[in-house]
Amino acid sequence: MTADSAQITRALNDLRFHQDEAYKITRQSDAGGHARHAADRTAVQIPPLLDAQGADVTARWPLRSFLELGALPSAVPCARLHARHLLWEWRLTGLTDSAELLVSEIVTNAVQITQADGQAAPVRLWLLGDRTQLLILVWDASPLPPIPMRVSDDAENGRGLLLVDTLSTRWGHFQHHGGGKAVWALVDAARHARGTDREARAGR
Ligand SMILES: Nc1ncnc2c1ncn2[C@@H]1O[C@H](COP(=O)(O)OP(=O)(O)OP(=O)(O)O)[C@@H](O)[C@H]1O
Ligand SMILES: [Mg+2]
Repeated sequence: MTADSAQITRALNDLRFHQDEAYKITRQSDAGGHARHAADRTAVQIPPLLDAQGADVTARWPLRSFLELGALPSAVPCARLHARHLLWEWRLTGLTDSAELLVSEIVTNAVQITQADGQAAPVRLWLLGDRTQLLILVWDASPLPPIPMRVSDDAENGRGLLLVDTLSTRWGHFQHHGGGKAVWALVDAARHARGTDREARAGR
């Protein structure tokens, strides 16, 4: 065997070892709670998001996801697509259109303020849900608050937060314990369905 093929064989063996390990871990996690250690190794860690009092606002939600993105324009379609996939997985597809728009507006603002501040910081997106509600949370490094604007009919900008206000059940922001702030929007599936029914009846 040449040195090259010995190296390749070793690499293949290593690869097989890792695959076996991964398989065992998956099987143990599938089998239930007895493999806590193994399951912990495969579980996706959702970092806590602490409010000004240091309380973790993500903890009480049974469905949780976290995505950290560079503060670049490409963060917006990435975040949108992520929301779409996740809502499908969480069986909240009725909220997809509104959630995508909300994620898009809030992440766009987060990217813009991070870039305007010349910060190298990322933007962070938490999507949290239960069977009836979706909470969108976006952290950015700027302490400045989002401020809805009064806009004239011909203004090109300043409508993002107005859209957030229209599409969400509630929205707001809080200063983050460790710096920056989080902007959040809650969408309630029942209220959302009543709203879209009303719009359908009104022929919109
Ligand atoms: N994450 C944020 N951090 C700091 N300031 C923000 C943030 N989001 C919004 N703002 C402030 O609130 C203002 C209004 O935001 P909004 O999204 O309504 O309008 P816009 O981003 O200026 O324009 P548009 O969204 O219509 O393109 C922004 O111009 C900005 O000053
Ligand atoms: Mg905006």
